[in-house]
Amino acid sequence: MHVQSPATQATAAPDTAGPVPGPPRRQVLRGAAGVSVLAGVALVAGCGSDDAGGTPTGAPSGGDRTLTPTSAVPVGGGVIVGAVVVTQPTAGDFKGFSSTCTHKGCTVESVAGGEIICPCHGSRYSVTDGSPTRGPATAPLPEVAVTVDGTDVVRA
Ligand code: FES
Repeated sequence: MHVQSPATQATAAPDTAGPVPGPPRRQVLRGAAGVSVLAGVALVAGCGSDDAGGTPTGAPSGGDRTLTPTSAVPVGGGVIVGAVVVTQPTAGDFKGFSSTCTHKGCTVESVAGGEIICPCHGSRYSVTDGSPTRGPATAPLPEVAVTVDGTDVVRA
């Protein structure tokens, strides 16, 4: 007989189509990750903070109580200065909170959209009073007393 088996043709088709080549997919994923990282950097930069090293840009070097220049704290946002998150919920109203997440003790990572954000499990806290706005944390960030001295926010 000279009839070809349809089954042979059918099984040959997936082999010729083959799997989707790996490198382009990986490149797409890498590109997406890169965009996410850049978006995060832009978000942090947009808040006027530089929390990568825990010290805002332009922070003065003198004085043990000095945390940050008032000008480095965005209204409605905040900056992370080591163990303290300094926020400015409304113009001229500065608050301080511990930067240690009350869930499992990670250090909060950023301040955006009026919230202080922990990277470990996604807890978020209000810049106004440190209360949790998203769990799993249920307890507020402890307040750190701060005041303004000249052009700086300092520990009270
Ligand atoms: Fe911050 Fe878990 S340690 S959310």
